[in-house]
Amino acid sequence: MESGARWIGPFVFAFLGCGALALAALMQPPRVTHEPSPTAKPAIAEPKAPPQDWLDHSPLHFVMRAMWADCGMVLLHARDTETGNLESIECSAEDIARKAGRFAQLYAAVAKPANDLGRAAKDGQWDAAATAYERLNKACCDCHVEYWPPKLRGFNADVVKLWREKGSPVDETPWSYDYAERLEHPPTTPYRSLMRCWNDGTGDIASALEKRDAAGTQESAGDLFKSVDNQAQAWTRLNERARSMQQFAMRGNFAPMKGTYERMIAECNSCHAALVDKPPEMLTPLPWR
Ligand code: HEC
Ligand code: HEC
Repeated sequence: MESGARWIGPFVFAFLGCGALALAALMQPPRVTHEPSPTAKPAIAEPKAPPQDWLDHSPLHFVMRAMWADCGMVLLHARDTETGNLESIECSAEDIARKAGRFAQLYAAVAKPANDLGRAAKDGQWDAAATAYERLNKACCDCHVEYWPPKLRGFNADVVKLWREKGSPVDETPWSYDYAERLEHPPTTPYRSLMRCWNDGTGDIASALEKRDAAGTQESAGDLFKSVDNQAQAWTRLNERARSMQQFAMRGNFAPMKGTYERMIAECNSCHAALVDKPPEMLTPLPWR
């Protein structure tokens, strides 16, 4: 009981807190107005140019860190049936499932047209192959707009400043493509190497398509499909594992959680072993102890 009270404690406090604030506002004596001193700063500061961390912010890394935190929360609540809070497990597991599901969806959206493209080329349906190629490129872009830092998309402090000054995007936008610069150098992480490989793959497909080379198109589309599908599958498995964790929590079933948690984090760890260079300590979801 004591532990239960501890867990609902913050919610009760938050509820009372809001009530107490409202009450305090009612009980306030009339405000004394002061003449603003000549040196006082304006109450609302003028927004500055976007801070560099706005431009550098990587949604991909943020999502990963959020899942790491979720794993820790699942662990914290699932390992002790006395003090564990099922709702916390449910929310955290569902967050992982949702994020993994989104990745699975975005990779599958690339894999599907790659597969269609190979088939169309095999059947000599060049118009269908060209349409699939467009869908393929669009699907790469769909993920990039969602997961690239604004800086990688060309935004810099000058772009944002100019747009705000003009009140609309302008033709002379001073883009600076971090992306284009990067491509002039060798990839710096295994994940970027994978991306370069996909980039080369789409290039190979384009030139095989141009030559109406059925075997060449099939081969390069097949290679790209396999590699992208691999990512889609890993995220689908993580989604399923996190979802079953959530289901156990929903049913208040603590017993199978250890195994489910371990299967879930095995997906994180096996992808990192393949795609992350020398993972720092924090990369590794905490083990069940
Ligand atoms: C299918 C691949 C894949 C899966 C599954 C995966 N990750 Fe990642 N993770 C990555 C990649 C790619 C990076 C970024 C590597 C880089 O930028 O060099 C990353 C980076 C991270 C980072 C570092 C972020 C930072 O900003 O330093 C953390 C933390 C992380 N992942 C946690 C998790 C957790 C927790 C799970 C499982 C719930 C998970 N990941 C599942 C591919 C994956
Ligand atoms: C699920 C998301 C996702 C999909 C799908 C995806 N990418 Fe990426 N891509 C990223 C992210 C995130 C980065 C930035 C990685 C970083 O900053 O380390 C990136 C970076 C890149 C880069 C830059 C590599 C470098 O060295 O900086 C290229 C090129 C690229 N992607 C090509 C592609 C191509 C081609 C496809 C489609 C066939 C594709 N990507 C599909 C997420 C995705």
